[in-house]
Amino acid sequence: MSRTRRIHVDQIASEQGVIAADVLSRSSVLLVPKGYELSSLRQSQPDIIDFLKRHGIKRLVIKESPLVTIEEFRSLLKTANHPLAQVNTLLSQVILRQIAGVFGNIHDKGKREQGVLSLLSIGSYLQDEIRKTPQITFSITRIQGLEEAISRHSLNVALVAGFIAARMFPLWPKYTAAVTMGALLHDIGKAFLPNGLLDKSRTLSEGETRTLQCHTLLGEAVLKDVLVRDERILSAVRSHHEKWEGKGYPDGAKGEDIPIPARIVAIANLFDNLINVVQEGDTKRSDEAISNIIGKAQSHFDTFIVRTLLSGLGLYPAGTAIELSDGSLGVVLESTERNLLCPRVLLMRDASRKPVSGIRIIDIAGQESVFIRRAVDDFGRRDVSPLRPSTRHGIEPHVFRKYRAPAPLADAEEKNA
Ligand SMILES: [Fe+2]
Ligand SMILES: [Fe+2]
Repeated sequence: MSRTRRIHVDQIASEQGVIAADVLSRSSVLLVPKGYELSSLRQSQPDIIDFLKRHGIKRLVIKESPLVTIEEFRSLLKTANHPLAQVNTLLSQVILRQIAGVFGNIHDKGKREQGVLSLLSIGSYLQDEIRKTPQITFSITRIQGLEEAISRHSLNVALVAGFIAARMFPLWPKYTAAVTMGALLHDIGKAFLPNGLLDKSRTLSEGETRTLQCHTLLGEAVLKDVLVRDERILSAVRSHHEKWEGKGYPDGAKGEDIPIPARIVAIANLFDNLINVVQEGDTKRSDEAISNIIGKAQSHFDTFIVRTLLSGLGLYPAGTAIELSDGSLGVVLESTERNLLCPRVLLMRDASRKPVSGIRIIDIAGQESVFIRRAVDDFGRRDVSPLRPSTRHGIEPHVFRKYRAPAPLADAEEKNA
């Protein structure tokens, strides 16, 4: 249990810690929910001290431990119900703090165990929020130090991975939750490594690189140590650096042998690394991050999952099945930057959904009246079972369908949920 103490409101300007009890006005209006970190409070509400003084608040209770119990997290959710609809900053802050807590206490078995288990619980809340949110929401905060950078990276990878999983398997919330949790914890093994190895501005020696690569196995071992048995979570942590062509680590697994959660986390991981470069450099644009992913997609990644991510961003790489504004269906040809927004499309079904005879190609860039309405690959929020292609009851068959249900066992589990 962490120590609590009372501080004067003026000390908000300098103290470190977490608000330990809701701060209420005299008329019981919630001014600051418990669980809010003081540094985040200073950053998000620079006038917080004057604000609290105006409401007659002189003192408040803070606690020092960055770890949040699941009860605290639940009560935080209750007080922050409305903003959470958009994977809000408060939820992000709790998770960031929790991850930092796990990293900071990694050598303390008790705290490590408590922290990892709390993160797993939070991961399932996070997937609920991701499923409610139609677009990827990154947590963007000013980064102070390595620990914060790793925390933010973990959260962003979880958001992107959860987003991809929810699009691939819309009827499988537990699968999305497991992928989100695996993504939150994917780099936990790095907590055991010296900070020097994690400094991206340094070039590592061969030996150091091999040590850094151990974070995948260390991460898996830590989770097994706290009795995590879910293969979807464990495989995301162990195998997120495997590459499609078999040149990744730790196992050199190839193609379909790489577990799907790990393939998803690998793409989310790269995406966040590239976006971070974009934010820090301030001169590049996210287009570059996207074209970089496309460049690597052929050899490093599962191209289907890359398409899932990109089409979720409103971009249409080659192979994406799309619906045009007149109702016809087609498949995107080519994959260049120009073509991401206005590609050439091979028509598969006409506006009345009849198969197109012969080869008909439409160049969207040259069209004035036809535009791409949406991607209709075998992902997206469609009301059909991921178990089999649906041709029944008037539901349109998918043009391509690659992934089925994650596992037969998950079927019964999900249906009973
Ligand atoms: Fe990693
Ligand atoms: Fe990572």
